[in-house]
Amino acid sequence: MDNLRIPSIKRKEKVRILVNGQVIEAYTGETVLAALLAAGYKIIKKNPVSREPRGALCGMGVCFECTVTIDGVPNIRACVTEVQEGMKVELDD
Ligand code: FES
Repeated sequence: MDNLRIPSIKRKEKVRILVNGQVIEAYTGETVLAALLAAGYKIIKKNPVSREPRGALCGMGVCFECTVTIDGVPNIRACVTEVQEGMKVELDD
């Protein structure tokens, strides 16, 4: 679902990351959150108590509503973490 990206913006090289085992394409320099949103993911995590779906709010590292597990490390803010080739991102079920 690359169509959420603005086509006229010149991007760096393409990379692939795994999101819950599915390959999505991203670009060097993008944040994990940007890659997730461009790929159509709107629910980034779930409330640990109520399990209600949550989405990114601030997009700048303040609210912690975008925490995901990256390469086995939990509670990483997707909005301030750049994608890396082969990165494994896990979202809450
Ligand atoms: S969206 Fe607020 S910390 Fe990431």
